[in-house]
Amino acid sequence: MKKIHDLSLSEIELKKILLRLDLNVPMENGNIIDFTRIEKIIPTLIFLLKNNTKIIIISHIGRPKGKTSELMSLKPIAEKLENILKNSPDASFLYGAGQTIRLLKKDLKEITKEELFISKDEKIVMLENIRFYEEEENNDDNFAKKLSSLGDIYVNDAFSCSHRSHASIDKITKYLPSFAGIQFNEEIGALKKITSEIKKPITCIIGGSKISTKINIIKNLIPKLDNIIIVGGMANNILKYKGYSIGKSIEEENCETIVDEIFKTVKKYGCSLIFPEDVAVGKNKGDSPKIKKINEIKNDDLILDIGPITINNIKNIIETSKTVLWNGPAGYFENPDFRKGSSEIAKKIAERSKDNSFYSVAGGGDTIAVLNLTDTLKYLNFSSTAGGAFLEYLEGKELPGIKALS
Ligand code: 3PG
Repeated sequence: MKKIHDLSLSEIELKKILLRLDLNVPMENGNIIDFTRIEKIIPTLIFLLKNNTKIIIISHIGRPKGKTSELMSLKPIAEKLENILKNSPDASFLYGAGQTIRLLKKDLKEITKEELFISKDEKIVMLENIRFYEEEENNDDNFAKKLSSLGDIYVNDAFSCSHRSHASIDKITKYLPSFAGIQFNEEIGALKKITSEIKKPITCIIGGSKISTKINIIKNLIPKLDNIIIVGGMANNILKYKGYSIGKSIEEENCETIVDEIFKTVKKYGCSLIFPEDVAVGKNKGDSPKIKKINEIKNDDLILDIGPITINNIKNIIETSKTVLWNGPAGYFENPDFRKGSSEIAKKIAERSKDNSFYSVAGGGDTIAVLNLTDTLKYLNFSSTAGGAFLEYLEGKELPGIKALS
């Protein structure tokens, strides 16, 4: 893979860089609740600015499914990125228009390369949410070609969405000299090291609400693991398969076959599968938690966290593990009343990480947000901004974003 930071000034100076980032940050009521993905990208921006390039940022947020939605605009993110960049001591060489990040609202199919920057001092612009265009997720060739016409060089610094075969990750590399970014390279380097030096017993905790993304990955991870703990929205399909009511909690349709295969695979490989025995429910996301056993869930209940028995089981497993990999919160952590399961997991992993023979890795925007909220991120051995991509990498898959750059 070619790396952008291996290029010399003369090779990139004055070039327009199409920079794919993953600024899909956790949001609650229009507010960004964790800035990690934004902060991590600053070194790449500084590198490109110091090399006198102009930057066109491409990113997505959420899953607007090809439709424009003001709720999923990148506006608050462009503003926050601009603010963090301005206050970064490494960016003190920037002044005036060079410090701004202008969001381009215009339909990108109508934008030309010449009109991207309004002055010679302007350095960074950001395209509006790339997933407002259905062609993005379809990995559309014409769309990738149009996108590529806006720049001279393409850089992927979005390892966390490189498991997606999308136009701005994959097809675009067909049309431009393409490079891995600084953050992308760092994440892959660290994950390579982890997977080659991993110590058993290995426990993987998988939670969160992106059930469709992860449910198929679990089966392939099982042969590599000693324990697999399924929490959060991910656990609801398991509970349903086991015959429990999950009330009005989130679930994925048509998952019986894959859940059945998961149970058969854990048996085959002698891996322990742990899922909630008790949960915290509410009638809505703003309700106060009520602890219930999994056979007590009512039709109008929403499962929003794991309960104390489950928390205790998980802590005991972490205690006897040598490696813990964690992706996805145990509940609706955005409401502090339903954060207990996620916080307790974070604190236990942090406590164990003080032991030199223990190795902890967490991945994913929401998981990092929980670790930040509980002030435990600093204790983990490694944290990746990637969630789904992190799990697929562990699975041993060749990610489309890596393949496209190779
Ligand atoms: C992530 O948060 O894992 C990436 O931004 C990818 O998002 P997606 O699961 O919606 O493709």
